[in-house]
Amino acid sequence: MKILRGLLLVSSLAFCLTPSFAQQKTIAAKVEALLSKMTLDEKIGQLNQYNGDWAATGPVTKDVGNKLDAIKQGKVGSVLNIMGTNHTRTFQEAAMQSRLKIPLLFGQDVIHGYSITFPIPLAEAASWDLEAMERSARVAATESAAAGIHWTFAPMVDIARDPRWGRVMEGAGEDTYLGSLIAKARVKGFQGKGLGNIDAVMACVKHFAAYGAAVGGRDYNSVDMSKRALWETYLPPFKAALDAGAATFMNSFNDLNGTPATGSSYLQRDILKGKWGFKGFVVSDWNSIGEMIPHGFVKDNYEAAEVAIKAGNDMDMESRAYIGNLAKLVKDGKVNISLVNDAVRRVLTKKFEMGLFDDPYKFINPAREKATMNQPENIEAARDMGRKSIVLLKNEKQILPLSKDFKTIALIGPLGKAKWDLKGAWSTDVDPNENVVSIYEGIQKQAPNAKLLYAEGCKVTDSVSVDFTEAVETAKKADVVVMAVGENIFMTGEARSKANIHIPGVQEDLIKAIVATGKPVVVLLMAGRPMVFNWTAAHAPAIVYAWWLGSQMGNSVADVLFGNYNPAGKLPMTFPRSEGQIPIYYNYLNTGRPSQGDNDTFYRSSYIDLPNTPQYAFGYGLSYTTFGYSNISISKTTIKKTETLTVSFDLQNTGKVAGEEIAQLYIRDMVAQPLRPIKELKDFKKVMLAPGETKRITFIIDKEKLAFYNDSLERITQPGEFKVMIGAASNNIKLEKSFQLTN
Ligand code: NOJ
Repeated sequence: MKILRGLLLVSSLAFCLTPSFAQQKTIAAKVEALLSKMTLDEKIGQLNQYNGDWAATGPVTKDVGNKLDAIKQGKVGSVLNIMGTNHTRTFQEAAMQSRLKIPLLFGQDVIHGYSITFPIPLAEAASWDLEAMERSARVAATESAAAGIHWTFAPMVDIARDPRWGRVMEGAGEDTYLGSLIAKARVKGFQGKGLGNIDAVMACVKHFAAYGAAVGGRDYNSVDMSKRALWETYLPPFKAALDAGAATFMNSFNDLNGTPATGSSYLQRDILKGKWGFKGFVVSDWNSIGEMIPHGFVKDNYEAAEVAIKAGNDMDMESRAYIGNLAKLVKDGKVNISLVNDAVRRVLTKKFEMGLFDDPYKFINPAREKATMNQPENIEAARDMGRKSIVLLKNEKQILPLSKDFKTIALIGPLGKAKWDLKGAWSTDVDPNENVVSIYEGIQKQAPNAKLLYAEGCKVTDSVSVDFTEAVETAKKADVVVMAVGENIFMTGEARSKANIHIPGVQEDLIKAIVATGKPVVVLLMAGRPMVFNWTAAHAPAIVYAWWLGSQMGNSVADVLFGNYNPAGKLPMTFPRSEGQIPIYYNYLNTGRPSQGDNDTFYRSSYIDLPNTPQYAFGYGLSYTTFGYSNISISKTTIKKTETLTVSFDLQNTGKVAGEEIAQLYIRDMVAQPLRPIKELKDFKKVMLAPGETKRITFIIDKEKLAFYNDSLERITQPGEFKVMIGAASNNIKLEKSFQLTN
């Protein structure tokens, strides 16, 4: 009761989503008062972030001596990678011994859950369920805030069109429209009712910008792109996150057109703090200020610090560039003190908004920490998010859902009993393996009367031929086989790019051997990225793409396998047939010699040895039921740009079980200068329908959905013909209409 009363009091004092003007004014006055008391060294201390004593999430930088002493001397403004109320208390107590007692901010990569691990973000994106993703971020925020954390380095909103890049697992996939909505949902989830609430953590939108477009999909690599592509494809999710109230931004490791993002005034001053009016602060990525030296952009940390602060980077994560050089830069007259003051103001403002000056230990309450973790309703939310994230790729002869009459089920594959892997990269160690439900356990629970056999078959990493006899014999004894194959936890994530994204090792040979038994086989593919698996796509009767779904993965998968949940996920990224097709994405521009089909290669923009089409397209995913699209109508055939257009159609569940369909709206501007993509997602609806039920679905098209950037980076519309397409996937358009746009 006491806790509850405390919570109510704190939340009534806390801000609504954004602080009111009066609150802002009060905070601004407090910030100025504090700033006027600070020495230059104390100011620079606020811009310095050290790694704590938990495992480092970047290369360990040179030792700084005793960190607690540095904190007591006011030389540190924030610490990352310390978790739990015990730890954070020790550090905050040190800060309270500094001259001005400015509280520390504790940052952490809470990417997909804290104590309960949720699906990796790419998997969640496959749900297209914004509410569910907001809830997932909310749970992560609630748990991590109760562990003393103030700030998560999430969401990652980098658009990624290259599945070789290991960090595709951390984002929302390839599409700008979907990615922008997801960015917004996640920020709302993390920040809840607003900074200052006891269960809200500050979001940190990353990595600003264009990190996902690294050449060759190699992590940290260069990015070279037109400004139009940057504005059109890569920046909108950042803007959406900002509009949702994101408190902080993180810049990125890559250079953009020859300037490291960390040193880019164009990105941080002109766009983010200038045109977009961002009032929060920007933190560097881990040592990204110092990494401007190996980039060849600056010669030493002194120059690096100068470039970074001038470019608008406020806080230095682990480069030690500001703490070592900024004072001298000011004294040497190279950096104007107003730049330092501006950065410090931004950091202090967030500390005030979080309520840390009122109570630096506000987030540090061991009883609350204990009471908040692993709540049953949150575990259930993780399970629900898991099944919503699953994509059914193939289901020949309707093997799925598995019949309750099967007496013997064989689970085969190296991931069948895995636990740790199921959490996926960027999960915290707070979630112990015992909390994770394996595929084996999930199946066992939902088929208590069936005999469940298991054979590993091979290891994920086996690369030389393996004797599959035991696996084959096990399969032969069963009525149905479920195969659990894919990547292990180390195969995606930061610095885990791959040139070969086929199912690793000999696992596809194992699939071949098991399919050859003639038994009904369901292949469960688990990975943090799209993989290549052409043989399986052609020959396995049923394929379920399950990604990494976190602690509840076994239960979520079993819900789908046994039909307790009808899968509805759709791919947020294109799945190529070969690495040679990468980058591959659905919203490309037509050439002057567009491919006319998969067999037409002569003088066409096709490969001579591979179709242009992907294995599975963006937006693709099946259900245990089927859906019919009919009766499209549009409100007008000509609209002015000030008007809106309504598109309606009937969506029917034509199968025998209830199910959800994600109906997608694409638009094409038929003739435009500059060119427009062959189609672009502009809206979608996830609709639940009972068998036989029909619903009339309506989309509204407004000017913004028809607008694009011209070469001068102005947002314009051009009159002419537009095509509106309604489909079940980007390559499965069911209904079309055209209309004219006039001035
Ligand atoms: C480097 C990663 O790029 C970034 O995303 C992460 O937040 C930091 N390390 C801190 O762990």
